[in-house]
Amino acid sequence: MNMATYPTKRLRRLRYNPLVRDMVRETELSKNDFIYPLFVVPGVQVKKPVKSMPGVFQMSVDVIVDECKEVEALGIPAVILFGIPEHKDEKGSEAYDPNGIVQKAIRAIKAEVKNLLVITDVCMCEYTSHGHCGVLSGEEILNDETVSLLAKEAVSHAEAGADIVAPSDMMDGRIAAIRKALDYKGFTKIPIMSYAAKYSSGYYGPFRDAAESTPAFGDRRSHQMDIGNSDEALREVESDIEEGADIVMVKPAGPYLDIIRRVKDTFGMPTAAYQVSGEYAMIKAAGINGWIDEERVMIESLVAIKRAGADMFLTYFAKDASKYLDKNRR
Ligand code: PBG
Ligand code: ZN
Repeated sequence: MNMATYPTKRLRRLRYNPLVRDMVRETELSKNDFIYPLFVVPGVQVKKPVKSMPGVFQMSVDVIVDECKEVEALGIPAVILFGIPEHKDEKGSEAYDPNGIVQKAIRAIKAEVKNLLVITDVCMCEYTSHGHCGVLSGEEILNDETVSLLAKEAVSHAEAGADIVAPSDMMDGRIAAIRKALDYKGFTKIPIMSYAAKYSSGYYGPFRDAAESTPAFGDRRSHQMDIGNSDEALREVESDIEEGADIVMVKPAGPYLDIIRRVKDTFGMPTAAYQVSGEYAMIKAAGINGWIDEERVMIESLVAIKRAGADMFLTYFAKDASKYLDKNRR
């Protein structure tokens, strides 16, 4: 520690010259950290705007392939796929159908785009008629029955060619079940990125428009975490690590920077953060209205998440931020 005091010590000394500022900056964004979420729908030549998320579209498989080529060309290393199936049913059958929408998208992308990781979101809510993250008995989401289906879904994504699977359901024991199922089928090298500390958040609103996954009744409080809890996040993350998670995620990101920091400091694991739909929508909306400088706030929001300890982020700004980084230093 430098024990000098003013007037010997002057903290502004390192702020006058932009080159010095660049040299002493502690946190810089890198495209290597970006994961771009994509929503795949049935059909051909479909590119349908998501109203609450300007710049985000539901896309058919053919359009997604072109999109992935663009993402690859921008230097973004990964996408995460969400599927909106043709038919939804009680048990979310298309989630683990080898010819399901996500499975088709994975195969098409893998066939045509060589330098891009395909991550898949593993959950039931996009595929169930009731929009809940698992199998129901009455109004209760059954844990263990759901876990078996999630394991089948993860294996089916791996069989289609997924590089990483990302379970987002928050059932107990899903990571162990998925790891076991993947290993049994020979997918010992496929990492699991676990949505480990996922809060029951109002910030997911726009996503549910994009993924058409709003629950028909009730909410997700019986499995997602209560917003007031922080110690519990460490217990969630610890179980997922014990069960075999390779990367742990905190979600949402911006409003939960304290959780990101605790998780990183406690476990020292590769840590992801999901800057969710509502965080994106708010920045976009204020930007479009001219109330904030959108580009500047976009970068600031991402720097904050990285400064808090995230090694990578899932963000709808991945393309915009990459273009920004091509032109500016950060
Ligand atoms: C599915 C899932 C959700 C998100 C990612 N995976 C929605 C939810 O849990 O309701 C939210 C992502 C976002 O808001 O951008 N379980
Ligand atoms: Zn879900």
